[in-house]
Amino acid sequence: MSSFRTLDDLGDVSGKKALVRIDLNVPMANGEVADDTRLRATLPTVTELADRGATVLLLAHFGRPKGERRDDMSLRRIVPAYERVLGRPVHFIPDCTAPEAEAAVAALQSGDIAILENTRFHEGEEKNDPDLARAMATLGDFYVDDAFSAAHRAHASTEAIAHILPAYAGRAMEAELKALEQALGKPQRPVAAVVGGAKVSTKLEVLRHLVAKVDHLIIGGGMANTFLAARGVAVGKSLCEHELAHTALEILDAAERANCTVHLPYDVVVAKQFAPNPPSLRICNVHEVAADEMILDVGPAAVEALADVLKTCRTLVWNGPLGAFETPPFDAATVALAKIAAALTQDGSLVSVAGGGDTVAALNHAGVAGDFTFVSTAGGAFLEWMEGKELPGVKALGLA
Ligand code: 3PG
Repeated sequence: MSSFRTLDDLGDVSGKKALVRIDLNVPMANGEVADDTRLRATLPTVTELADRGATVLLLAHFGRPKGERRDDMSLRRIVPAYERVLGRPVHFIPDCTAPEAEAAVAALQSGDIAILENTRFHEGEEKNDPDLARAMATLGDFYVDDAFSAAHRAHASTEAIAHILPAYAGRAMEAELKALEQALGKPQRPVAAVVGGAKVSTKLEVLRHLVAKVDHLIIGGGMANTFLAARGVAVGKSLCEHELAHTALEILDAAERANCTVHLPYDVVVAKQFAPNPPSLRICNVHEVAADEMILDVGPAAVEALADVLKTCRTLVWNGPLGAFETPPFDAATVALAKIAAALTQDGSLVSVAGGGDTVAALNHAGVAGDFTFVSTAGGAFLEWMEGKELPGVKALGLA
């Protein structure tokens, strides 16, 4: 990673207008913000700029309104939650471009914070339209990108605008990039990656990239079934993409050529029905799954072996749960391995970086998210980074 400009490189910002791209695409339930992790992630940048005397203009998207103004996707709905998290008043400006928003922006004082309306209400946003980027840029003196989780989108507010105004990485962006560099850029070896989740098809590129990068690839979740089946294991009624058997074998071959050890479970937790604590639940060797059973979690012996692998490693990247963790007791392997990774991190022997929607939920469920070295707030952007892709929002900042 080349050097990049951060808030430390800004001179006196007092009286200046900062256009700060953040990610307010948060889960909602009954009109309320259901998880404020992404809101909290923005606080260091927003409070620092306001305290240094800038007027902070927050650019963000919500949902996928495709260029239409929609009340149910207005960022006005986020203002109360953001005020609560920030502990300061937050203004709302019902557009994010000049000339529409100019008067409202001019009325703000130094140190004020305002959320500007959903960037995706403008058709040009997703088209990375330079005219729209200019209309946004007119409102500010400089641009700060603090939305790593939207950096895989080449949009007007994440990409084009960074070529118009002097551009800086915010504190959350800075922390993400440093952690990711530590995890896969120049990691301490050996490196392990845990890749779980339901489907191989959604993570093919991740797996292909990782086998060339890491020393140990731990595959869990429904994805493991596809690999097991490809190796001739009968997986019964398990979730399995049989049509990807050939691809799975190619990935295993590539791993072998790259000296990457792939770990698939050798004992598993199975049941005849997918329900909480089903009566048919049992633990068995992976070769003993009956035709009417499905694999729902990695077994305890395999978890112990994986713990031993992690003990030999210095770096861990984690994406995706090992089992059907939302339904007990199929959370056991994910929770157990997450706790081991957290303890090794706390002992100082492991750098652990995790990301992706389900992953954060799983680590929170295990109660160890705070004990990992870094937990990314990004979903799609984290995956694209794990695929080895250059993220346009990061590249535009000159940070790649
Ligand atoms: C996310 O929620 O991952 C980001 O905000 C990107 O949202 P998008 O997938 O709608 O572009």
